[in-house]
Amino acid sequence: MNIGFIHSLIRPEEKLLLKEFDRKGVSPIRIDSRTFQFDSSATNIQSNDLILEKNHLDSVFNRSLSYSQSLQTLRIFESLAVHTMNSSEVLENCGDKIKTSLALKNVPQPEFGVAFSMEGALSLIEQMGYPVVLKPVIGSWGRLLSKINDRDAAESVLEHKFTLGNYTHSVIYVQKFVEKGGRDIRSFVVGDECIAAIYRDSPHWITNTARGGTASNCPVTEEIKELSLAAAKAVGGGIVAIDLFESPQGLLVNEVNGTMEFKNSIQTTGVNIPEKIVEFYVNEVRM
Ligand SMILES: Nc1ncnc2c1ncn2[C@@H]1O[C@H](COP(=O)(O)OP(=O)(O)OP(=O)(O)O)[C@@H](O)[C@H]1O
Ligand SMILES: [Mg+2]
Repeated sequence: MNIGFIHSLIRPEEKLLLKEFDRKGVSPIRIDSRTFQFDSSATNIQSNDLILEKNHLDSVFNRSLSYSQSLQTLRIFESLAVHTMNSSEVLENCGDKIKTSLALKNVPQPEFGVAFSMEGALSLIEQMGYPVVLKPVIGSWGRLLSKINDRDAAESVLEHKFTLGNYTHSVIYVQKFVEKGGRDIRSFVVGDECIAAIYRDSPHWITNTARGGTASNCPVTEEIKELSLAAAKAVGGGIVAIDLFESPQGLLVNEVNGTMEFKNSIQTTGVNIPEKIVEFYVNEVRM
């Protein structure tokens, strides 16, 4: 079984995954997406000192931090009939917040909207009602999120986006702000199993642990399990992490992450997340 491990910076997560591969007796070939080279007429793929026959790999496992590098590298391997995890389709469904919301059409989620102009966005926001949250369509770690409480803030943030942002900031993605009680839930789905979940508590409305939120174990209730599996299925399955809000109307899926971070959740949940991931992946490839 020839497996490729697509990576950029090797973080604690990647180290833990590589350790689990090792324990399974699998030695993935490391492919650094930052120096990846593909030439349609060549017989090899290159990255750093690596020269790889195009038909050498059975599957690639993606852990690159770069969304664009991940997406294109996966697409290239798929064109070579190499199995991928997650697939480019799943990654794109997760990476583009509009695609995610559209994919989740049959799953409870916060009300959302899309507009492309100042006037369109203001009208959309006023129809939705304050407060709302504006998010870059592609982004993570809670960066450049804005909670908009009134028209003054809406006008100002939209003007900044249209004037100072690059062209990607002129696609306006709006979500209704959800009163979620000072925390959200991050659940981990591996195949058709919801293996663990954490609460992320924070005095700030942005509860990401990367932004100071504190993680604690969240028992996987039947509701959390069902909704997490439905969200994972909606984006195409695989290995994903789901953000859930406890709204007054019940659980809502905020987003789905296609390259999950889990290092702070292993001790917290007592679940060996990287082991579960590698076990599932290796079984998938063997099938
Ligand atoms: N509509 C909303 N209502 C209330 N809180 C929200 C809303 N959207 C986002 N948040 C808060 O902001 C956090 C980050 O939002 P979100 O996950 O959508 O952004 P992100 O940049 O993709 O983050 P990451 O990919 O790291 O999870 C959420 O975990 C939540 O705490
Ligand atoms: Mg999130």
